[in-house]
Amino acid sequence: MTDRELFEEAVRAAGYSYSKYSKFRVGAALLTVDGKVYTGCNIENASYSLTVCAERVAMFKAVADGATKFKAIAIAGSSTEDFSIPCPPCGACLQVLSEFCSESLLVILSKGWFRLSDFLPMRFSGDNIK
Ligand code: THU
Repeated sequence: MTDRELFEEAVRAAGYSYSKYSKFRVGAALLTVDGKVYTGCNIENASYSLTVCAERVAMFKAVADGATKFKAIAIAGSSTEDFSIPCPPCGACLQVLSEFCSESLLVILSKGWFRLSDFLPMRFSGDNIK
């Protein structure tokens, strides 16, 4: 699976976005080390703060299915049909991703790829509460 293919999976997942309040559709595609892809979309709620981002939906689907080792995540977000403007992961999603992924996790956006550590250089983890 190429970066571009994983990104296209994220765009496809954005098609399922339930974003009636923000009208901003987000899709995420999480690639496991075994080559399996878990997708997610943002799911909003009338009680706004209960909204869940696409990245966390993808991660929770994966973990609930027994997957815990990941290689990459692609994220696509837009309020139009054009997904070419990069949509970086929010802070809450970074923290959830960091629970299961190493700092070298590939984060694929519309314009290139990054590492999880590029967004979250000094993460709070289980090591801090040992
Ligand atoms: N959103 C995501 O799904 N992922 C992010 O990383 C940033 C924001 C969603 C949440 C909300 O439904 C909409 O985008 C606008 O904030």
